[in-house]
Amino acid sequence: MKSFHVTTFGCQMNEHDSERMKGMLESLGYAEAAARDDADLILFNTCSIREKADDRFVAHLYEARALKRRDPERVIGVGGCWAQSQKDAVFRQFPFVDVAFGPGQVHKLAEFLTADSLTAQGFFEFEGFTGHLPAKREREFQAWIQISAGCNMKCAFCIVPTTRGREVSRPFEELVAEIEVLAADGVKEVTLLGQNVNSYGLGLRPQPRRFSELLYAVDAITGIERIRYTSPHPAHMREDVIRAHAELDSVCDHIHLPLQSGSSRVLKRMRRTYGRERFMDRVALIREHVPDCAITTDIIVGFPGETESDFRETLEVAEEVGFDGAFTFIYSPRKDTEAAAFSDEFIPHEVAVERMERLVEVVQRRARERAQRFVGRTLDVLVEGASRQDPTRLRGRSSHNKVVNFDGLGEPGEIVPVTIASATSQTLAGEASFLSRLS
Ligand code: SAH
Ligand code: F3S
Repeated sequence: MKSFHVTTFGCQMNEHDSERMKGMLESLGYAEAAARDDADLILFNTCSIREKADDRFVAHLYEARALKRRDPERVIGVGGCWAQSQKDAVFRQFPFVDVAFGPGQVHKLAEFLTADSLTAQGFFEFEGFTGHLPAKREREFQAWIQISAGCNMKCAFCIVPTTRGREVSRPFEELVAEIEVLAADGVKEVTLLGQNVNSYGLGLRPQPRRFSELLYAVDAITGIERIRYTSPHPAHMREDVIRAHAELDSVCDHIHLPLQSGSSRVLKRMRRTYGRERFMDRVALIREHVPDCAITTDIIVGFPGETESDFRETLEVAEEVGFDGAFTFIYSPRKDTEAAAFSDEFIPHEVAVERMERLVEVVQRRARERAQRFVGRTLDVLVEGASRQDPTRLRGRSSHNKVVNFDGLGEPGEIVPVTIASATSQTLAGEASFLSRLS
């Protein structure tokens, strides 16, 4: 039997694409190898969102070349966004690569592997969806569902529209049917994935749909206890979606709302289509309907032309909102994006690093403060397994997407009440409270 090994870089969408690669390979009779050295087929699912992602990946790719030199029968495949952004240049630069494919072309890998002769080949069309591939789930009780592919926004810093193409939504009924099957198979928590999830469905024909409709339909499926989604766009975050959080038990108390910058001037140059006020207004609306909702975000520092006073506005927004968590990034110019042409306004790296440090201080302090509201409360925690630091304890997540490490009993997939004793900016700690479970 042939074996494969997949290394995944980047976002949850890639994690999910890798699950589909694995499912497809197993249906072709391949088995997953524990280590790269043992695999006949070495695959990389790549990311190109920032330059660092590229560099990390290339080091891995050279390791695969060394393995192939020892055993020239091995096949090396490169999929995902980096592959798409390089297209055929992959084969010029890395001639030991056998097959390369973009994020929408996972199914072509099967075609390649089952062909009579393996000559190097690339697949980079945009077909919207990568076909119906069985996914190999990492955990039995959690599943990712890709509801749309691509993105129609034109954020000046972002390579995603280039690597994943125009937005296409999957048919509503198909998604509901797929989640019904997953629920019957033991899935309790679903995460709906898209680059801009709340523009889901608007382009569907004959009947356009709304993202909130999908939330209601998924909530109605027996067995689905938790619904998450990522990411909504602040400009498209409408009241109906926020109301769904308030009205539906299964929709988690967490919204990831990418801010990018607190300065309306910078947001405009980023082509984010909202300003500071609109963002704050969305936060107010969320807090009005779902006061306890966790709000997390993405922030970029050092976007070309960002002044000290622009940056201070970002600090102000971070201070004012008090995010429960934030991913912070230093701007990284990407090929074929609008902002890459603003090179005369690039911010010196030392300045960006210094701003990043100031931002992280505010973000972490506010997240730690926000997390104190959980201390003394009992939260429902979906058990994921043993705690990473201390295997005698358990680890799970609250509806707010907070990692909770706790003492007590519980099987992976079970939802147990945990009384929170302490909180840091990142994690909560506590003890399972079986009494409250009985009452
Ligand atoms: N709409 C997508 C965005 C994916 S990219 C989603 O959230 O699903 C994830 C984050 O990476 C962005 O929100 C942004 O903060 C950051 N990012 C994207 N391009 C970047 C770049 N060129 N430099 C630095 N950070 C970037
Ligand atoms: Fe990128 Fe903006 Fe779309 S961040 S994925 S272009 S919403």
